[in-house]
Parts: sequence; C-alpha cells; structure tokens
Amino acid sequence: MATNITWHDGLTRRERNEARGQKGYTIWFTGLSASGKSTVATALEQHLLHLGVAAYRLDGDNVRFGLNKDLGFSEKDRNENIRRIAEVAKLFADSSTVALTSFISPYRADRELARELHAKSGQNGDDALEFIEVYVDIPIEVAEQRDPKGLYKKARAGEIKEFTGISAPYEAPEKPEITIKTHESSVEECVAQIVTYLQGKGLLAASK
Ligand SMILES: Nc1ncnc2c1ncn2[C@@H]1O[C@H](COP(=O)(O)OP(=O)(O)OP(=O)(O)O)[C@@H](O)[C@H]1O
Ligand SMILES: [Mg+2]
Repeated sequence: MATNITWHDGLTRRERNEARGQKGYTIWFTGLSASGKSTVATALEQHLLHLGVAAYRLDGDNVRFGLNKDLGFSEKDRNENIRRIAEVAKLFADSSTVALTSFISPYRADRELARELHAKSGQNGDDALEFIEVYVDIPIEVAEQRDPKGLYKKARAGEIKEFTGISAPYEAPEKPEITIKTHESSVEECVAQIVTYLQGKGLLAASK
C-alpha cells in the first residue's frame, strides 16, 4: 500500500461534461461465455458513436493482452481483473465517455464492487457516476451450442480448468438494470432495448 499520497483536486466532472456536451457512465455487461456480450456491446458502441456520443468498449481478452496480462483465471486473479477494469471504466466515465465493459464477470461480489466504486464517485458537488448492469441471460445449452471460440468443447474435454458454467460458477445478477436474452432477440433488438432504457433515464437525447 502506498503511503504519503494526496488526492489532487482538478476540474469537476460537471465542467468536463459541459465542455464535451455529454455525460459519462458505465454500461457493464455480464453473462456466460458466448452469451453475446462482445457482440451486443460492439453494436451498441457503434450505435452510440454514430449518434455522436463518445463511447469506448473494454473487452475480456483484449484487456488481458495488456493491462491485465499478469492475471490468470483463478478466483483471486478474476477478482483483480474485474477490480482493475472497474477502475478503468470509472476513469473513462469520469472523462465524459460512455464506458462499455464486456467481461463474464461471474462473481456477484466483484460486480458489486464495480457498482460501489461508481456509487462512491460523487465529490465536489458532482453526482455519482451511473452504473448500468446488463445481464446477458441465455441458457448454457445455447451458449455451448454457439461456442464461437471452441472454449466449451475444450472445457468439456478438461483442457480448460475453471471454465465458467462448466467447472467454475456463474452468479447471475439479482437486480440488473437491464436483462437481454440473445437467444430470443436479435442483436439489433438487444441494442434497441438498451437505447430505450438510456433514453428513459435521460442518458441519451431522445431526439438524436
Ligand atoms: N442476438 C444475439 N446477440 C448476440 N450474439 C448473438 C446473437 N445471436 C447469435 N449470436 C452469436 O453468439 C455469439 C456470441 O459471442 P460473443 O463473443 O459476443 O460472446 P461473449 O459473451 O462476448 O463471450 P466471451 O465471454 O467468450 O467473450 C456470436 O457468435 C454471435 O454471432
Ligand atoms: Mg466477449
């Protein structure tokens, strides 16, 4: 733990938001591998960018190539993986960007920690950053049938240890802001569902 460190107050979030003409927040996707997190998050990112909204996606494997390349898939490393991602998402949101995260994030406690980090981010008269949990809910049989990366096959063959849904737990959210079912709705319908939610919360100008 670092000691002798002091927080330096700079611009307020409100000043940044006003200058950039938009508010940052975090949309946190969670769900089994192959549930469609990356697919829907990418389509949503594209949709937001076309609306002129600055958005940026932090995605599972990509983050493990760099920021988190020292981490594996044990419970401890998964905790640390999510903690760092939550901190980075918060920084993006604080910079008036819409942060989209697409990680399995199987543990409820980790997601709660991410939510709390955002909830505690109100300071200097700034409101706390919004945290929107999107549960990508599909039966594991469907995910296993899709298996775009061949990971379920490897997990069943015992080639991957601690694979979520097979040999490691997935703790479904209890109160997600949004639940999407990618086995019942198309990618476009899932994006529309999220966009409708954002509009309802005043997080997107309805006219845009
Ligand atoms: N409605 C839908 N929404 C999203 N993906 C869908 C849908 N219908 C079919 N798919 C397919 O399901 C697969 C989802 O894979 P994707 O990589 O997005 O999952 P993921 O949740 O990001 O998995 P991982 O945790 O392994 O990264 C893709 O092959 C996608 O084309
Ligand atoms: Mg993915």
